Amino acid sequence: MHGTGNPFSKTVIGDNEPLCNQKELLAALMLEAHSGNNNVLLAPRRAGKTSLAMRLARNYRAQGGLATFTDLSAVPSTDAAAERIATALFAALSINDKIFKKLSQLVTAFVPVITMNPDGSFSVSASASGICKNGLDRLVSVVASLDRISTQSDMPFLVILDEFQDLAMLSDGALIEAALRSTIQHHKASYLFIGSRRKLLRDMFESPNRAFYRGATTRELPFINKDEFSVHLIERAGTSGAVWPRAITDTIVATVEAHTYSVTAIAHTLFEATAPHTPNEDDLTDAIHITTTRETSLFMSIYASLTPQSRILLEALAAEATKHPMAGDYMARHKLTNAATVKKSLLTLVNGDHIAINEDGFTCLTDPLLKRWLTTRWSKRNMLSSLLPE
Ligand SMILES: Nc1ncnc2c1ncn2[C@@H]1O[C@H](COP(=O)(O)OP(=O)(O)OP(=O)(O)O)[C@@H](O)[C@H]1O
Ligand SMILES: [Mg+2]
Repeated sequence: MHGTGNPFSKTVIGDNEPLCNQKELLAALMLEAHSGNNNVLLAPRRAGKTSLAMRLARNYRAQGGLATFTDLSAVPSTDAAAERIATALFAALSINDKIFKKLSQLVTAFVPVITMNPDGSFSVSASASGICKNGLDRLVSVVASLDRISTQSDMPFLVILDEFQDLAMLSDGALIEAALRSTIQHHKASYLFIGSRRKLLRDMFESPNRAFYRGATTRELPFINKDEFSVHLIERAGTSGAVWPRAITDTIVATVEAHTYSVTAIAHTLFEATAPHTPNEDDLTDAIHITTTRETSLFMSIYASLTPQSRILLEALAAEATKHPMAGDYMARHKLTNAATVKKSLLTLVNGDHIAINEDGFTCLTDPLLKRWLTTRWSKRNMLSSLLPE
């Protein structure tokens, strides 16, 4: 039977949708979870971290384990972090009544609040119990309860903390790190720390003067193999009733260097515009253009958040990746005036994971769509075509 919706999801992959590749990493992380080890998973933005982690959690649950997933992105305070972890924890325990009754009482800093939704389903949230005096205490307490739960289960409790670096970026970050480290150190639970600000997360786990030093094995999420991704696109389009030629899918993957989100987003647009028909090259050119334009509000907010000097550098790197961004001729070519400023901008852009050094030693943009957006947005051709009548 053919599906009716767009088979290319622009958000986290659902439990029943197929994941392309990543089998080895999934198997390795599964083994680590069973053994109660801690891991750090690093990958650029929108490379597929959350989808992978969700799949790991699903598979671990299918094998009889307990798994909890907390998104810590842009968490505003220690209190909020504690509440997010507690809410996710209660949700993880609510897989069945018996487990919930038995294990939720091990969480002392929060009480579960069950709400019935208008559609008759239930959702669970966490409310502070009043036993802890401040946010940091609550955070430490809820993390300690993860361990208590783990000791009560046959398999280690799999605790996934997504965008974990955002916790360390709070003003009391150092305090939080130290407190969590001593709580997590002797844990029976298995932690998976995930993040896209790779420099920040690496620093947390790999600098000797930081609390989490050597607390976990660091792994990089590999990009999906180009051929496999191309075949995956054909299969996904096929299950929804469209025949996609290999030349088209190869071009999609190559255009955005197999970057997971970018490939998916272009495929999504192309499917939307052409299904159930077979797309041709012109359709693809349009789809790439539309996809890039659709990212405008996100890219504009990233761009606008940077200093003018960082913007100039980002545009320079989008136009021309280089091994030596501080070399005189490169700077002159791209109207970068001051080496000290370039150095500072490089650091900012690396910290934000907007740029990275690739395996060939070139400093380049991490998001191929952002690169495309920067290099085409203000070009003359673009301006002219937007002046022409439709
Ligand atoms: N293994 C995969 N196979 C096919 N598509 C994938 C795979 N993993 C992720 N995707 C797709 O890539 C996009 C990004 O996925 P996801 O949100 O999991 O990435 P992320 O790295 O967590 O992103 P963010 O940096 O925004 O948190 C989504 O459109 C998702 O559907
Ligand atoms: Mg994510």
